[in-house]
Amino acid sequence: MKLVHTIKETRDEITQARREGKIIGFVPTMGALHEGHLTLVKRAREECGFVVVSIFVNPTQFGPSDDLDNYPRTLESDAHKCEQAVVDLIFAPSPAEMYPRGFDTWVEVNGPAEMLEGALRPGHFRGATSVCAKLFNITNPDFTYFGKKDYQQLTVIRKMVRDLNLPMTVVPVDTVRERDGLAISSRNVYLSSVERNAALVLSRALKDVKAVFDSGERRVLTLKRIAESMIAAELMPRIDYVEIVDAETLTPIDEIERPAVLLLAVKIGSTRLIDNIELWREI
Ligand code: PAJ
Repeated sequence: MKLVHTIKETRDEITQARREGKIIGFVPTMGALHEGHLTLVKRAREECGFVVVSIFVNPTQFGPSDDLDNYPRTLESDAHKCEQAVVDLIFAPSPAEMYPRGFDTWVEVNGPAEMLEGALRPGHFRGATSVCAKLFNITNPDFTYFGKKDYQQLTVIRKMVRDLNLPMTVVPVDTVRERDGLAISSRNVYLSSVERNAALVLSRALKDVKAVFDSGERRVLTLKRIAESMIAAELMPRIDYVEIVDAETLTPIDEIERPAVLLLAVKIGSTRLIDNIELWREI
């Protein structure tokens, strides 16, 4: 495994792998790697001859109230985990490498980027899509892997790839959960043990709504109320949103007649958690 910090070295390594006829798999991350990230890497390892992981805490997707400075930076242990997962190349650029003086070009997806997280975190998706567009241009992958944990991000990136005809396939990977159901996130460490216990209501609510959906209920309001009342009963969480939307466009719906997704964002104590579940028969 190689760890490089510059765009040039990354391009050189990947050009060489391509010359050797290898399929390139790319997993973009912000580091602080956990089982969720490593599941994406594992999938890439199974499907591709050359696996690239980027580790870059992207400043442009953080808002003024998001804590960019306190985001965990653990390159050494991340590199160790990548080595164990048989990654071929880590690209860990500095902010100056990605955003040199004078940088001023942005990729902005409308539609699915405007609601939910997009409405609550202005500029977040513009930063995420712009950095992904740059990372895709630098790594030139055949396949790029994104977690369903960040369902809206996955949807927005898929739209960008489709709308801009980027020559790669976005591979969605199921959310990895702790044994008790809590979706794995680098933010989970901020939960006290009481809060962590309360946070279990999120995955429980998703599961219960899915069960009611599976038994035939299609009315969005009825399904949403189940999740809302379960969550509201726990430890005074602040619900940012509980929404059931069209799985592709993320637009609001009243009845589930095609693939839909239940998305939620809840603050427990000072930790904001997001989670989701797909609501459709085939899924
Ligand atoms: P980050 O939060 O580090 O996540 C990197 C990838 O790991 C994303 O695709 C995310 O959905 C996936 N992931 C995180 N937790 C997961 C879990 N429990 N199960 C499955 N997948 C999980 O998302 C970002 O970084 C950034 O926005 C990025 C795309 C790198 C652009 O800066």
